Order: sequence, then C-alpha cells, then structure tokens
Amino acid sequence: MRALENLLSGDYSKEDIVALLKSNSTYELFTASKEYKRKFVGNKTYLRGLIELSNICSKNCYYCGIRSANTKVERYTLDQKQVINACKYAYGRGYGSLVLQTGERDDPKFIDLISETLELISKNLPAKMRITLSCGEQSKETYLKWKKLGADRYLLRIEASNPYLYKQLHPNDHKHSFEQRLRALEALKECGYQVGSGFMVGVPGQSLEDIASDILFLRDFKIDMIGMGPYVPGQNTPIAQKEILHKDERFLLALKAIAILRITMPDVNIAAATALQALEPMGREKALDIGANVIMPNITPPDARKAYGLYDNKPLDSKGLEDRDAELFKRIEDIGDEVVRNEFGDSLHYNKRIGKGK
Ligand code: 5AD
Ligand code: SF4
Repeated sequence: MRALENLLSGDYSKEDIVALLKSNSTYELFTASKEYKRKFVGNKTYLRGLIELSNICSKNCYYCGIRSANTKVERYTLDQKQVINACKYAYGRGYGSLVLQTGERDDPKFIDLISETLELISKNLPAKMRITLSCGEQSKETYLKWKKLGADRYLLRIEASNPYLYKQLHPNDHKHSFEQRLRALEALKECGYQVGSGFMVGVPGQSLEDIASDILFLRDFKIDMIGMGPYVPGQNTPIAQKEILHKDERFLLALKAIAILRITMPDVNIAAATALQALEPMGREKALDIGANVIMPNITPPDARKAYGLYDNKPLDSKGLEDRDAELFKRIEDIGDEVVRNEFGDSLHYNKRIGKGK
C-alpha cells in the first residue's frame, strides 16, 4: 500500500495517515508497527501503577463522567495510608513507576495535597520509583514546585488538537481554553518533565483528518509519552447521546492510531489505555502487541476506583491485585513481551531530547 510505503520511508503526508486510518487491510500496518516496536523499544512492557488520588474536579469537560456538574458522583480523596499502601504494593511487585491522577483543581489546598503526597511517597519508599503526575493545567511555578518534590513525568492530554473540535468538547469559558492547554504543555517541557500527551479517538464530531492532525501534533510537539484511547460515552455527560462510530470501529481506529504513532515516533513510550479494555476485554494486550509498550494497572482501592468513573463500563477488576496482576502479566507474556520489573522505563525519546543516551 502506497500510504504505508510513504510512512515507512519517512516521507509521508497527512493524507497518507488518513488513508491508513481509512484502510481496512490492517495486517501490513500492524506487522510493520510490531517490527518498529521490537527494533526501537524492544518486546517489553513497562509497568506504571495508577493511583486515582481524588475525583474532585473543578472542570466540566463534556465527555467526562467526573465533571463538576455531575452531582451523582460521590467525591473522594484518598488518605495517606491508602496512598502508601498502593505505592508499597507497586514497589513490591517491581513496578518501575507510579502515576498520581486527579480531577483538575488549582486551589492552594489542592497544590498542597499533591506536594504533601509527593513528600510522603519519597519518605516512605525504600528506593526511588519514577513519579508521573496527571493533575491538569497548573502554573509553571506549581509544575516546578512538584518537580522539585520528586515528580519526573507529567501527563496532559491535548484531547483534540483542532481548536474548533476542542471548543465543541469543552465549555466556552476561561477554564477550558485551548490556548491555555498549549501553554501548560509548553511549561511542562520548560520545567524538564518527561511530557506525555494524547487524544481521544472517536469523539463526536471528529473526522479522520482530525485524528491525523492529532498524530502530527504529538510528533511536532516532540511529546515523549503517549496516552491515547478510544472515547467511551459516559453517563450523565452532555454528549453521551451524540452519534459516534460503533465500538468495534472506535477500537480498531485507536489501534491503527497506535500503530501509526509507533512508526512515526519509534522511540516514544505508548500506553495501552484502560479505555481500550472498556471496549474489548483484551484491548490493552492487543495494543501492546502492535506497538504500545506501557501498561498502567489500576492500584487504587476498589471503592475509590468505582467512584473515578470517567466513562461507562470502566473495568473494575473484582479480583485482588495479586491475582489480577498474575493473570495480566501472563497474558502479556503470551503475546511475546517481557513484563519489565524494577526498571524506570524512561522514554528514550526524552533521553535523546535532553541529550542523554543515544
Ligand atoms: N472516554 C474516554 N476517555 C475519557 N477521558 C475522559 N473522559 C473520557 C471518556 N468519556 C480521558 C481524557 C482525560 C483522561 C484522564 O481520561 O482524555 O485526559
Ligand atoms: Fe475534570 Fe479531567 Fe474530567 Fe475534564 S477530563 S472533567 S479536567 S477529570
């Protein structure tokens, strides 16, 4: 296929990406992306323990189940003991890093909560684990403060790189500004974080051209880590009833986007998002098979996990963590990957960007 040849040669256009997203003959694309994964980042899956620290959010993104206007959500913030237990579990199982995720707030109490949690973790763990924050847009000062307290990486999805689509997915007010989002991503880079971003695939009103532009945005912004998954409608959200692609199509489109990203940005870390699992039980393993190299098992205590309802059908893992992980790791090994223990798994793209490593 011409578009794939162009992509592999490095001389490709946005139209080539659109053609690949449109094409239903995915065999060659996935074979190529698998080979890129093997060659550039190895047949390895890195572990990040996801801690959903608080579902209190001051924003109102139209797609999200924990938006502040959703009064049906029971709001929580984990206490220190719960956080430490989760961290110790991850450390004990050889996870290389932790992700602290919250709804977005920028009040002083919240900034202190994150600062205190970072201090708590560094005091209580026997050795360093990489810490990723996913706590939304903040001032550069706050980003710097958290970096000094031990945060290494930051996830902030662009959600939609087309400002017009971004506006359709968010309220039209100063709290939800596309320009501010871009500034926050810039600030994260300036502060020296490994920066992760991504978008949702299959949101209402999104075209294949939009997805191609999102892929090119991540490349041109020199993003180090990618977290990208299918849109899954959420109860009590204003856009839940809007027309979207069938779930199988959204799932396949997300896989194609992962494969294209692996080829266009071979040395980035790509997460197999939980939303893939919401659409297809083996969704994350399929993503790891064709190009993703990071998994973020949820280590939040069960009740809180339920209350962190970004979308419907969120996998809740009724088993205990040990059993859940044993089964998950086995399935990852079955696709031919090594589940990497006791390694940070820093983004090679980041190391190159800052002049470290090859
Ligand atoms: N479907 C899929 N992903 C969602 N997110 C929020 N709501 C949804 C949804 N309905 C994602 C956003 C956000 C991340 C924390 O969760 O991309 O950045
Ligand atoms: Fe809040 Fe994030 Fe949900 Fe937006 S996507 S409402 S910022 S938790």
